[in-house]
Amino acid sequence: MSSSTLTVLLNVEVPSSVLTRARDISSRISIVTAQELRARPAWLNEADVLFTQRMDPEQLAAAPRLKWVQTFGAGVDWLLTPNLHRREELLVTNTRGIHAQPIAEHVLGLVLMFARQLHRAVRQQSARRWHSEALQVGLSSLSGATLGIVGLGAIGRRVATVAGAFGMRVTALKRTPASAPGVERVFGPGQLLPFLKEAEYVVNTLPLTPQTDGYFGAAEFAAMRSDAVFINVGRGRTVQTDALLQALQTGSIAAAALDVTEPEPLPEDHPLWAMDNVILTPHYAGAHPGYVQRASAIFLENLSRFVAGAELTNLVDKPAGY
Ligand code: OXD
Repeated sequence: MSSSTLTVLLNVEVPSSVLTRARDISSRISIVTAQELRARPAWLNEADVLFTQRMDPEQLAAAPRLKWVQTFGAGVDWLLTPNLHRREELLVTNTRGIHAQPIAEHVLGLVLMFARQLHRAVRQQSARRWHSEALQVGLSSLSGATLGIVGLGAIGRRVATVAGAFGMRVTALKRTPASAPGVERVFGPGQLLPFLKEAEYVVNTLPLTPQTDGYFGAAEFAAMRSDAVFINVGRGRTVQTDALLQALQTGSIAAAALDVTEPEPLPEDHPLWAMDNVILTPHYAGAHPGYVQRASAIFLENLSRFVAGAELTNLVDKPAGY
């Protein structure tokens, strides 16, 4: 690498220790903070490196000197526009990996809510009602129940381990079949319907790519068991919302828990808000205390590598979209 100045934009609110550590990596590094960027958006024209939350992707694709973007989240669907794809040389890295444990906990929390009817108990409590029998008829056990995970990345693998600890039988569906600890059977992409038929809990962890857009539609919900619970912690647009709504309204599946929706957020008058068999959480399954520190650690590691001309970690496969 040359000895010219490297302008690094941190479009993320990070503790001052992160700024210090970034500056310590090399005397070539000149940091622009989120506050400085807000005051002077033209900094983007001078940026070599950007660590960022979601921002206007077209603005970013037009940044003339940009060589590497580190995203704050795991999903990069918001970033990979056609103009960005045209910048073939531009490296993109994300923070995948840091979401695995919190999302696994979130998923198992939701599974337990349905199995123990806790969502209905909380609604009864809000209405000051004590109807034990009404809840008991809906109880089920996790032990021996099949949980099918769609997408077996870091999140899917962690969900598998945690579900296994509750005695669940875990299956998965993966684009390129491979084994994973705690997963009894991994189905290939051509086996989606048989995979869905078996699972009491279907957990969608898919990223949004051109291949996964609208992935779950009427045929997929029709293939699921009538007692199936559909859980989405991937991306809202991988699901055709109208098909899901219809499956829930007709009893073709039993329930759904959605941390992500399409559109997101759902409009106030959307029927999913009011359904007794639906749990909605506002896209925070991956959030956890320490997120900023862990995301910053990936950025700092990559900044050292970038300065040294080494291969970056958490590289996004841009054509694949994740
Ligand atoms: C992410 C998310 O992309 O939380 O990181 O959805």
